[in-house]
Amino acid sequence: MTLRPIVTLGDPRLRMVGTPITSFGATLHELLDDMTQTMRDAPGVGIAAQQVGEALQLCVIEVDGELYEVANPEIVHLSGEQEDYEGCLSVPGFVGVRKRADHAVMIGQDRDGKRIRIAGSGLLARAIQHEYDHLQGTLYLDALDPAALIPASRLDEDEDEDESPEAARLRERRRARRAAKASIDAATEAADAATGA
Ligand code: NI
Repeated sequence: MTLRPIVTLGDPRLRMVGTPITSFGATLHELLDDMTQTMRDAPGVGIAAQQVGEALQLCVIEVDGELYEVANPEIVHLSGEQEDYEGCLSVPGFVGVRKRADHAVMIGQDRDGKRIRIAGSGLLARAIQHEYDHLQGTLYLDALDPAALIPASRLDEDEDEDESPEAARLRERRRARRAAKASIDAATEAADAATGA
């Protein structure tokens, strides 16, 4: 597995519609493994092939410890509404409040070409919609006024009286994610030290 550089806003590859996956062999498996490692390292809850520079119908999503690898996805159901902060690994340092459907169902194929179906609410539904957009060359901020984007660092500031429950939840999630990454890094370093790697 290899970490791949994440393509950022302004790179034309983010604007390309992905071509369908037709071959489900070792090359695809390697790309999926690299995408997962790159997403976890960032860290993020999803990554699209466009974000590692490959315009393909392929994405990876990881929410609540469940990893989904999806080729040739289609969204077959959207319902309800949620409003929360959303960010993107290709737009580092910024987030914006984005309305999304609260429930989403995605169908597609797994790494071996087998049909799969993913249904989710809340964060999983948001990730399904966000990654699907990437595969069409669309970014979450396309639907937002540029003034609606705020520095992500502002979410990490101490809680204030005006903070919405959504902002508090996201700030807590970011803090937990950073803590988890720090403990993984520490464990990796300790393991490396022990094996002399
Ligand atoms: Ni994104």
